[in-house]
Amino acid sequence: MSNLANLRGYLHSQLRVKLPVPTKKFTDQVVIVTGSNVGMGLEAARHIARLGAAKVILAVRSIQKGEAAAKSIVASTKRDPSVVEVWELDLARYQSVEAFAQRAQLLPRIDVLVANAGIFMMEFTKAEDNETNITVNVISHMLLALLLLPKLRETAVMTGKPGVVTFTGSFTHWMTQFPERNSSHILDDLADEGKSKGRMRERYYVSKLIQLLVAREFAKELSNSSKPGKVITNVVNPGFVATQIMRHGGPVFQVYLKLMKAALSRTAEEGGRTVVNGAEGGEETHGQYLNDCQVGSPSTFVLSEEGGKVQKQLWDELMAKLEKVHPGVTQNI
Ligand SMILES: NC(=O)c1ccc[n+]([C@@H]2O[C@H](COP(=O)([O-])OP(=O)(O)OC[C@H]3O[C@@H](n4cnc5c(N)ncnc54)[C@H](OP(=O)(O)O)[C@@H]3O)[C@@H](O)[C@H]2O)c1
Repeated sequence: MSNLANLRGYLHSQLRVKLPVPTKKFTDQVVIVTGSNVGMGLEAARHIARLGAAKVILAVRSIQKGEAAAKSIVASTKRDPSVVEVWELDLARYQSVEAFAQRAQLLPRIDVLVANAGIFMMEFTKAEDNETNITVNVISHMLLALLLLPKLRETAVMTGKPGVVTFTGSFTHWMTQFPERNSSHILDDLADEGKSKGRMRERYYVSKLIQLLVAREFAKELSNSSKPGKVITNVVNPGFVATQIMRHGGPVFQVYLKLMKAALSRTAEEGGRTVVNGAEGGEETHGQYLNDCQVGSPSTFVLSEEGGKVQKQLWDELMAKLEKVHPGVTQNI
């Protein structure tokens, strides 16, 4: 697809497409939603609670904000307050991810992980051994997914229904030429402040491209695994949504954003519908990029031969990194 066709498709989605309100039940399911104190995560959690989940876990870095979100979900859905739990998760710290995953082992089941939290930063900062956008948007979510995988599989065997790991991705993966792809150590280079000079404006886009590439490889690995218990994974593009994600942009960027929001944006509730669509985990969504609540088409780079090679390189780099963070975790696949 050309960039022009892509732009037309984007405008059509933003201005014309009416996203379906989710109706598929989540009865008896235990669903974890990261970044669910505000924005699309909150609205997705609200839909999932309304649709009958037995437990919705709001995985958030501020318990206080999470409690306010839980209250609002209970008030709007009239579900019992015990249905919505607030658990601490800071994706900028591997230890927090590990502690969260350890706590989750005590749950009777995990049906769905909604890997939704995200950060958009144009300044270079580090969280753990990576630049912060990369740690939060990519590395920690994949660490969490791998740590929860045995429980998702166990649940799938018990229920006969595939587990689901859905990532909130972005159309912005189209918006970078990703020159870092030419490195023999892509993740290391992205963690290097000197090499990131002049590149931070696109870093969020790069993080969303890497997230999509590694999720596609994750899907392949899941399909090839002989372990019992099927797990579906997909990446959702919610479109452009009026939330707080770009709160770290500078003042000029905020003016531009305000205009764009007024002209084009979806509401957080509408964006939340796309996230729930991913969480439903339709078989046809495995390894796919979802657009307007159906299987869509990722960028031409992602689909290219080069994109395939970079995808494999990134996967290998990521697995080596995660083995260092949590030895043995890659064996969960
Ligand atoms: N809005 C858009 O147009 C758009 C478009 C495409 C994709 N997305 C993606 O949609 C997802 C949800 O974002 P949103 O638009 O709903 O924005 P949002 O309202 O800013 O929500 C982002 C969520 O991520 C959480 N978060 C950030 N850093 C975290 C960390 N270190 N540990 C745990 N949680 C963290 C935030 O928590 P705090 O409130 O504590 O910061 C918040 O709950 C993100 O992945 C974003 O990249 C957004």
